[in-house]
Amino acid sequence: MNKKTVVITGASSGLGKATALAFARKGWWVAVADINQERGDETVEEIKALGSQAFFQHCNVANSEDIQALHDRCLEEWTQIDVLINNAGIVSALGTIDRVPMVEWQRAMDINLMGVVRGCSIFTRTFKEQGGGHIVNVASIAGLITIPTMTSYSASKAAVVSLSEMLRAELKHKNIGVTVVCPSLFRTNLSESLMNAKEGQQEVIDREMEKSTVTADDIAEKIVTAVKNNQFMLLPHKTSWLHWGLKRLSTNLYQWVITRK
Ligand SMILES: NC(=O)c1ccc[n+]([C@@H]2O[C@H](COP(=O)([O-])OP(=O)(O)OC[C@H]3O[C@@H](n4cnc5c(N)ncnc54)[C@H](O)[C@@H]3O)[C@@H](O)[C@H]2O)c1
Repeated sequence: MNKKTVVITGASSGLGKATALAFARKGWWVAVADINQERGDETVEEIKALGSQAFFQHCNVANSEDIQALHDRCLEEWTQIDVLINNAGIVSALGTIDRVPMVEWQRAMDINLMGVVRGCSIFTRTFKEQGGGHIVNVASIAGLITIPTMTSYSASKAAVVSLSEMLRAELKHKNIGVTVVCPSLFRTNLSESLMNAKEGQQEVIDREMEKSTVTADDIAEKIVTAVKNNQFMLLPHKTSWLHWGLKRLSTNLYQWVITRK
């Protein structure tokens, strides 16, 4: 088989879907994995309309058996897996540390962090056997900079950045590349995943997303290029470099800037 193949979790919507279509436009075959079958089937149809091949696999990233089944289906369909994109994620309730219920911390960690850990663990075994592969982990700028009241989401994404740094080093000599994507806000259906949140939070998130001039399609194209170039850190929003750069330059100065009244 000489076709390139990519598995994308959370590919029924938003960035996952845009990335699925971006790879399909380049002729790649795509596994669309998600908990939302209806939107997933639409994504598969759009990929096929581009002349490429795709299938939908129901996969809850909070469940190891689902990820194992996804992996096994990919090998059955294709015999070789080139790229895994751990994109599925949710936004957890915003609020101060004394107000956010523990169940939200659990949800953020189980899906945003452990979903990525499960994907990396299961697919890396095959990448090693194949003699290569590439992993893309979708984190967030929230995992790099300080955004008060976004603690559970940010901590889960910071852990994805850290995990990706470790894997980049661990897998370098196994011919397995690692990319971590840290976008700022862009318009998707992400706020639909909000639970246990105060009234009005969904509207706040949607309003902030609406302001973004960067689209899911823009980021998807950058992900395709990052895989091609084996680029590690992908910050698709130009302003992110300012925030992250300042934090790396001086943590004290950065803390002063973000906490000043
Ligand atoms: N939209 C933004 O502003 C933004 C910014 C930074 C990072 N991100 C990250 O981008 C990624 C994609 O999110 P999006 O913005 O495209 O949102 P989205 O809601 O449009 O898409 C996320 C997809 O993940 C799926 N999903 C949710 N939980 C799942 C689970 N347990 N198992 C499998 N699939 C699941 C959803 O059904 C949905 O199809 C997420 O990791 C998110 O944290 C988004």
